[in-house]
Amino acid sequence: MCELQHRVNRCHPSRSTIDFCYVRPQHIPAVNALLQSVFWPGIDVSDCLSYPDYSVVALYKKLVVGCGFLVPDVGYNEAYISFMAVRHNWQRSGIASFMLYHLIQTCMSKDITLHVSASNSAVMLYQKFGFKIEEVILDFYDKYLPLDSKQSRNAFFLRLLR
Ligand SMILES: CC(C)(COP(=O)(O)OP(=O)(O)OC[C@H]1O[C@@H](n2cnc3c(N)ncnc32)[C@H](O)[C@@H]1OP(=O)(O)O)[C@@H](O)C(=O)NCCC(=O)NCCS
Repeated sequence: MCELQHRVNRCHPSRSTIDFCYVRPQHIPAVNALLQSVFWPGIDVSDCLSYPDYSVVALYKKLVVGCGFLVPDVGYNEAYISFMAVRHNWQRSGIASFMLYHLIQTCMSKDITLHVSASNSAVMLYQKFGFKIEEVILDFYDKYLPLDSKQSRNAFFLRLLR
C-alpha cells in the first residue's frame, strides 16, 4: 500500500502507529476473517463481546492486524487463551508480544493455559513469557483442522503458573 501511494502521489505516505483496544462489535467481521484464515473455518468470537476486557485488537488505522482473546474462567483460578493471531505481513514486529503482555496483565492472580499445535513455532512466543509445556495431547486438533492442513493435529498444553 505504501508503494502504491508513493507511485500515485509521488511522495512517501505518512506512517500511522499501531493502536491496541478492546474488541468492539465493528471489529467482529475482520477478526473472524483473520482467525479463520490462520486457524480453521467457522470461528466466530462474537461471544467475547460480553467480556471485552479480556480481549485485545491491534489496529493499523482501521485495519485489524492482530487480535487475542482470553476466557477468564475455565477452571479454578485459571484463564485460557482461546485465540491469538497477527496478519501475515505484520508478523515478527512485536504485535503478538504486546497483546500477550496485555492479556497476562488482565489476570494477574490466575494461571493462564492454552493449546497450540505441536508444529507451531508460536510455542517460542509463549515460552518467552514463561509458559511451560505441561502435556502433549494427541489428535487434539482432529475435529478442527481441515484435512489438507499442514499443522500437526497434536497439541501442546501450556501453562503460565502464578
Ligand atoms: C504466532 C503469532 C501470533 C506471532 O505473532 P507476531 O506478532 O509475529 O509475534 P512477535 O513479533 O511478538 O514475536 C515474538 C517472538 O515470538 C517468537 N516467534 C513468533 N513467531 C515466530 C515464528 N514464526 N517462528 C519462530 N519464532 C517466532 C520469536 O521468538 C519472536 O521474537 P523475535 O521476533 O524477536 O525473534 C503469529 O505468527 C500468528 O498469527 N500465527 C498464526 C496463528 C497462530 O499460530 N497463533 C498462535 C496459536 S494460539
